[in-house]
Parts: sequence; C-alpha cells; structure tokens
Amino acid sequence: MIFVTIEGVDGAGKSTQARRLVNRLEKEGYEAVLFREPGGTPLSDKIRSLLLDAPDLAIAPLPELLLFSAARAQLVKDRIRPALATGKVVVCDRFYDSTTAYQGAGREIADLDWISSLNARAADGLRPHRTWLLALPPEEAARRRARRSTPLFKEEGSVPPEQALRTEPDRMEQAGQAFYDRVAKAFDDLAAAEPDRIARLDGTLREDDLADAIWRDARRLLARRSAG
Ligand code: TYD
Repeated sequence: MIFVTIEGVDGAGKSTQARRLVNRLEKEGYEAVLFREPGGTPLSDKIRSLLLDAPDLAIAPLPELLLFSAARAQLVKDRIRPALATGKVVVCDRFYDSTTAYQGAGREIADLDWISSLNARAADGLRPHRTWLLALPPEEAARRRARRSTPLFKEEGSVPPEQALRTEPDRMEQAGQAFYDRVAKAFDDLAAAEPDRIARLDGTLREDDLADAIWRDARRLLARRSAG
C-alpha cells in the first residue's frame, strides 16, 4: 500500500509523531505498521545493539555505513515488503535518508552517488512515497540532545548530569556539534533535491500541530492512491 518515513536529527520528535500517525491511521480503519531503524528483525536488532549500545566498540565510518545498510536490507526483505504486499501502510521512524545524512555527511563519507546506490540496493528499490523531515534550528537541536545525554557529551551548554534523562549517550550522540550541523544540512539538502517526496516541517511546532500537518498530508496521499 503506502510507505512513509519520518526523518530528522536526534530529539526532533520523530518517534512520537510516527506513533501518533500509526494510531491515527488505525483509528481511520487502515492497517498500519510501525518500524524504527535500525531494528525490526532479529538481525537488525542485533546490528542496532552493536551500533548504538556499545559506544566504546571501534567502528570506522565505512563499516558503520554498511551495518546500517545491512540492518535495513533485512528489514525491507522480511518485514516492509511483506507488509506492503498485504495492503498495509508502513511507517518507518528513519530510513535511508538517515544514512545519507549521518554517514554520508556526518561521518564525511563524501561519495554521495555511491551511498545513494547502496541505499537503493539495500532498500530493494523501495522509495518512500512521502518523507516528513522534522527540522530544528541548530541551537534547539543541541538543547534537546543535551537534555537526553550526560557529561560524556562534551558540548557547551549541556545540562548537568543530575538533570539528564538518560545515563549514557550512544555512539551517534557522542559525535558533537559540528557533526550534527553537517547532518542537519544534509537533511535540508535532501529535502531541496527531492521536493516531491520530502516535506520539511518545523520541528519546533507544538506536537499536536505537527501531528495534524502530517495527518493532513498522509490523508491526501492515501486519497490519491485509492483514486489512482
Ligand atoms: P535512536 O535511539 O533510534 O534515536 P532517534 O530517536 O534519534 O531516532 O537511534 C538511532 C541513531 O542511529 C540516531 O542517532 C541516528 C543513527 N542512524 C544513523 O546514523 N544512520 C542510519 O542509517 C540510521 C537509520 C540511524
């Protein structure tokens, strides 16, 4: 049926919006399923834990890229393709735009054409019908990250550990401000390059307003698919 993704830097509120969209779809009578990348199959969950739960494990940029892609390839084959084949709406919290932004730009694996063909290959040619990019100004993104991490996160303005909600920053969260600036810019560049697919939304909007904006767009998309 249809395949939609939600993207953005850490702390942009993607997971909340993805969940709300799935709830809304179900309320309106659609069968919907939610995946979060990396993850969603036994292999993809194992890869997730290698990538995110072991911040001291050395993983260079290229193997990091390949591991995210491997997790995605298994998810598409085992879960996303079969769900779409049975008429479900598939919502994915992150997909290959995250690889382009985090590994391509963040980790500076500059070969974007190669990354783009790897993305297409790992996704088995599947392209999201719509991607919502939740964009945040850099200062706001840094504030939200700091709230989620600890003193290990060496960034000016981070909150003291006693106010932190999480105990340890994951591998990506240790990367620092310049990394996140490159990631955010790459997401903006992707949105500019593919305006027919990627809708850039203001991540500072109230949660309800964002959910409404996403739902309005999703409803249009669904109406168009059932008409055509
Ligand atoms: P997660 O805990 O799901 O964070 P978030 O709530 O921000 O989505 O962690 C996913 C992390 O993995 C996040 O920092 C982005 C990163 N990531 C990549 O670097 N490349 C990728 O291809 C994907 C899917 C995620």
